[in-house]
Amino acid sequence: MSGIILLQTEIPGPNSRALLTRRSRAVPRGVPAVTPIAVVHADGAVLTDADGNRLIDFGGGIGVVNTGHRHPGVVQAVREQLDQFAHVCFPVSTYEPYVELAERLNRVTPGSHEKRTFFVNSGAEAVENAVKVARFFTGRQGVICFEHGFHGRTNLAMALTSKVMPYKKGFGPFAPEVYRIPFPYCYRCEAGQRGSGAAGQCCMASRSRLEQTFAGTVDPDSVAAIIMELELGEGGFVPAPREYLDELARFARDHSILFIADEIQTGFGRTGKLFASEHYGLVPDIIITAKSLAGGLPLAAVTGRADVLDAPHVGGLGGTYGGNPLACAAALAVLDAMEEERIPARAQRTGDRIKARFREWADQYPCIGDVRGLGAMVAMELVSDRQTRAPDKAVTVRILAGALARGLVLLSAGTYGNVIRVLAPLTADDSLIDEGLAVFGAALEAAAGRAPALA
Ligand SMILES: Cc1ncc(COP(=O)(O)O)c(C=O)c1O
Repeated sequence: MSGIILLQTEIPGPNSRALLTRRSRAVPRGVPAVTPIAVVHADGAVLTDADGNRLIDFGGGIGVVNTGHRHPGVVQAVREQLDQFAHVCFPVSTYEPYVELAERLNRVTPGSHEKRTFFVNSGAEAVENAVKVARFFTGRQGVICFEHGFHGRTNLAMALTSKVMPYKKGFGPFAPEVYRIPFPYCYRCEAGQRGSGAAGQCCMASRSRLEQTFAGTVDPDSVAAIIMELELGEGGFVPAPREYLDELARFARDHSILFIADEIQTGFGRTGKLFASEHYGLVPDIIITAKSLAGGLPLAAVTGRADVLDAPHVGGLGGTYGGNPLACAAALAVLDAMEEERIPARAQRTGDRIKARFREWADQYPCIGDVRGLGAMVAMELVSDRQTRAPDKAVTVRILAGALARGLVLLSAGTYGNVIRVLAPLTADDSLIDEGLAVFGAALEAAAGRAPALA
């Protein structure tokens, strides 16, 4: 091993444990602590905890630091902006970083048509605003979302989210006029056909199937928008088959339904292209981004057709903090890095490397039921039986715990909690990825029962 990981104590060490104890007395338990470590420093894809342990980060703050922790360009841009001003409120006074970032996003998002962009603070807020604008423009109320989809924790975003526990249980009533349809999750195909999807066999990709779905759900002519993650994020890194997307986009166009691509997790190079939409030749009416947009600062964007976004009246859109100048400066530096360092292409290479290793493991370990994902948005799905595909959350939890004990932060996903996803910074070099994969492999071996677990 190249030796990035440095363990001075057990994980978590005493200082991490002490802070987590304070946390439990000061912060509600509803805010999860996915790992028990307290971080004091982060650089690239490396975390240093409060006990001086160095860990490799394959979680990237849940897909927020595609450009790595403290990318030098981002740090410099934020410092320079801070020397000018930190806040004046864009609806009150105009400043260039906001306008320039809107111009850049209008240029780099799919489609050469005229666009507009405005900024809010979080992914959930972008979801809310995209739906709000779509309803205003179309004069319709219905919104189509997907099984296994995740769109955030505000009231409408919760309604659009599929997974009940922990996101919805006990938090109703939910926003009305939300209709959920099946996601083309080929590994768990509802129609039982279990095609590969990627090979062009998605049984849900037909006009008649879509018409049947809508016939039992909602009148398409009362629907304002379809909101979709092209590759499910929290739902388990499931890319939609291309042919399904083609049919759905055609169906939406024929019924004047707006297509909102939720690229909050897929965005900014993760899938091997700047946006997942590019894999599908899809030009969404509205595209929403957040997470890696600003390299660690809170920022989200709603970008879309000029006629759609210009529809609401003056004062109908905005907010106190949306498009904060520090976050806009950071995002401009992120976009520079995406271009200058060719991060999407690098993501494709890294993703191929990780997927190749996952496939080797799948040949050895029957608990790996599926390996999938676009570019570096890669995951494995764990099952207790390859025939029945019964989800195996227990082995997933053991692998994550084993990896953390050995110095690697890994995240799970999936409606059944049985998917391990990789969201490593896309700037990580091959040797760091290989070191992380070696640890992952050791944890997998221990959890699958072939090697002793760490004490
Ligand atoms: C696809 C998708 N949409 C929306 C959200 C919500 O974003 P936020 O947590 O910034 O509100 C997330 C967050 O994980 C996401 O992955």
